[in-house]
Amino acid sequence: MSEAPSPTRGRLRAGDPVVFVERKGRTYHAVLQPGATTNFSGSVLPHDEVIDQVDGVRVRSRSTGKYFFVLRASMVDHALRMTRSANIVYPKDVAMLITWADIGAGDRVVEGGLGTGALAMALLRTVGPTGHVTSYELREDAAIRAQRNIAALLGPIDHHRVRIASLYEGIAEREVDRIVLDVPEPWEVIPHAREALRPGGAFAAYVPTTLQLQRLVLGLEKARSFTRVESYEVLLRGWHVTGRSVRPQQQMVGHTGFLVFARRVVAPDPAPASADEAPEGPAS
Ligand SMILES: C[S@@+](CC[C@H](N)C(=O)[O-])C[C@H]1O[C@@H](n2cnc3c(N)ncnc32)[C@H](O)[C@@H]1O
Repeated sequence: MSEAPSPTRGRLRAGDPVVFVERKGRTYHAVLQPGATTNFSGSVLPHDEVIDQVDGVRVRSRSTGKYFFVLRASMVDHALRMTRSANIVYPKDVAMLITWADIGAGDRVVEGGLGTGALAMALLRTVGPTGHVTSYELREDAAIRAQRNIAALLGPIDHHRVRIASLYEGIAEREVDRIVLDVPEPWEVIPHAREALRPGGAFAAYVPTTLQLQRLVLGLEKARSFTRVESYEVLLRGWHVTGRSVRPQQQMVGHTGFLVFARRVVAPDPAPASADEAPEGPAS
């Protein structure tokens, strides 16, 4: 089977999101358009001098004589800058979701809400063309914008399906490998996730508040079809490193959300054989 070339490879093309980087590391984001120019603090940079050049090319502004590097925007660059319909899952949390939910090439994933598409684009890139992602989203306008955002990074893809529907009403897919949620009431999805996930499949959710975290975790534990229910928060701190000083950066993204993970198991029989399998009760 021939696979599509990686959208991160090859020469810079019209339509590519790029980052201009100046000597001191300051950046300016643009989408390459024939005939267009970027004005970076007075330095005029014609896109025609960048289109068809290699990723990482160095260009010189004729207006100021300054040099700039031009890089194809990374997924993180793109996710943080794209037009938003809703808050995105921050890249540090996306990375954790993908790793802890054990998502890989060929997986069949259901996600929702699609929102701005930040989580979806990472899922699509991870599962690749041999996998599939179905995204649920209530708002058609958000879905259209998200699909545009995704296409700007990944180009044309055919392993993504968008359903304009509520995840609280049900999940049409079956034998799903992973379900990843970013909706306000993820506990409403638990009975549907139980139906849709294959045994051994993984459930993951992002929730911004502690109240949502508690309700979701208790709901998963009560459902008796999930095990290894785990909750995390990811703190990311940048470091300032020079020849004269090495210290943490003074500013960081303090709080984004909590991440909940669980694995779908074959539910025990309704009548427990022993006290060991009692469905509920106070923790010992
Ligand atoms: C915070 S945003 C998701 C952002 C997305 N994860 C991203 O990284 O760009 C939440 C989205 O869920 C959608 N939503 C809310 N309730 C939903 C439901 N019951 N089913 C499907 N989508 C829902 C909202 O319309 C909104 O677009």
